[in-house]
Amino acid sequence: MTLEDGVFCGPYSVFTNDKYPRAVNPDGSLKAASDWTTTPTRVRRGASIGANATVVCGATVGCWAMVGAGAVVTHDVPDYALVCGVPARVCGFVCPCGRRLAGAQTSADAVILRCPQCGREVALARPVWEEHAAALTEVSLSAGPAGGAR
Ligand SMILES: CC(C)(COP(=O)(O)OP(=O)(O)OC[C@H]1O[C@@H](n2cnc3c(N)ncnc32)[C@H](O)[C@@H]1OP(=O)(O)O)[C@@H](O)C(=O)NCCC(=O)NCCS
Ligand SMILES: [Zn+2]
Repeated sequence: MTLEDGVFCGPYSVFTNDKYPRAVNPDGSLKAASDWTTTPTRVRRGASIGANATVVCGATVGCWAMVGAGAVVTHDVPDYALVCGVPARVCGFVCPCGRRLAGAQTSADAVILRCPQCGREVALARPVWEEHAAALTEVSLSAGPAGGAR
């Protein structure tokens, strides 16, 4: 399991390392070290894991992403994504300052979101946006200097 620089781990956050755990083999014998298959997990720079959240092994939590309290992460989390629930789903995108991003302007290969709290602009890869934007209510796409609305 790898935590990159600047990662926040909330109280009682959990990282599993064995996706199919057993204490014993089918014949009842105790598992030896060679009987375990561990699967790596990575939490990338600046990301936060909320209290009581569980990250199931094999997932990568993206840079500056935020995992809500109590979530169970079973898939990769995109950079800047806010995920909540069981299983965790993308429910927004967040600024490096931690607050939700809003608004959106498009260009050919990116979508620019802005932080109402600190004013920072964050560029998301357009495929990430297109995969998750339909589920979001707090951000709306508008035409802007970076390009036309879709
Ligand atoms: C996920 C989180 C960032 C959302 O904060 P927010 O953007 O201010 O959202 P709100 O509090 O306005 O909540 C919006 C909705 O999401 C729900 N919600 C909030 N946090 C949630 C969570 N962790 N899981 C599921 N739903 C959540 C709220 O109930 C609300 O739903 P409603 O509109 O039906 O009432 C925040 O609630 C959270 O979990 N932060 C992590 C806190 C933590 O663990 N800190 C560790 C150090 S102490
Ligand atoms: Zn901000």
